[in-house]
Amino acid sequence: MSDRIRLSIDGRELTVEPPLSLLQAATADGTPLTSNVGCMGQGVCGACRCLVRREGEREVSTVLACETSAENGMQVSFIDYFTPHRPHVYDIAGITDSWRIADAVRDVFPEADHCRHCGGCDRACPKGLEVQRGVALAAAGNLAGAADIFDQCVMCNLCTLACPEHIWPNHLGLMVRRAVTALGLRPSDLIARLAEIERGQQPIDFSGRDDHDAAAGAARKG
Ligand code: SF4
Ligand code: SF4
Ligand code: FES
Repeated sequence: MSDRIRLSIDGRELTVEPPLSLLQAATADGTPLTSNVGCMGQGVCGACRCLVRREGEREVSTVLACETSAENGMQVSFIDYFTPHRPHVYDIAGITDSWRIADAVRDVFPEADHCRHCGGCDRACPKGLEVQRGVALAAAGNLAGAADIFDQCVMCNLCTLACPEHIWPNHLGLMVRRAVTALGLRPSDLIARLAEIERGQQPIDFSGRDDHDAAAGAARKG
């Protein structure tokens, strides 16, 4: 068929019929996906990170395979998971003083002060996040601003792979998000829901939605 395209994925020459994502194209010849996939194409797990060179281009870019369309002449290589050479250990529940939160983050991620502003993390990020700015805000103690930037991070680790200063930007961002959330007010509807459960109202009942709603209504009246 004339509209079929050819591309190479991890050294396999494939002929597929678009439209397909790279993740779908990787299985088009019946090869099972045993790694580099988590959320099955929802774009939220970051596991399908890969390197891509498009036909006629010299540049190699980093993308998520489930969010990138297969194109004729593409060369694709999935990136394996890697283990941290130095785990970052912290206890969010132990950070109870919001005045000390910036120091707590700096203690765990001292490398954040050494950003050389090379932009490698920004270029690597398949979500288009301002990673470098997030690192700078965290290092400057503006944790709410940093948490906002990393809010859409899918932990693909591509920024960490790209960072020459071993800052681990996404892991820094994750700690910041956790700390800011732990020290902030919980959503009021969640607080109310937990209080209801503790009082025995609105029991969690998976036997049937209608029954559950009826029971919840009766409990509220009671
Ligand atoms: S910030 Fe880093 S880990 Fe998060 S999506 Fe961007 S590249 Fe991936
Ligand atoms: S890759 Fe590392 S050193 Fe370069 S801008 Fe990003 S955080 Fe800074
Ligand atoms: S499979 Fe989860 S982000 Fe692509």
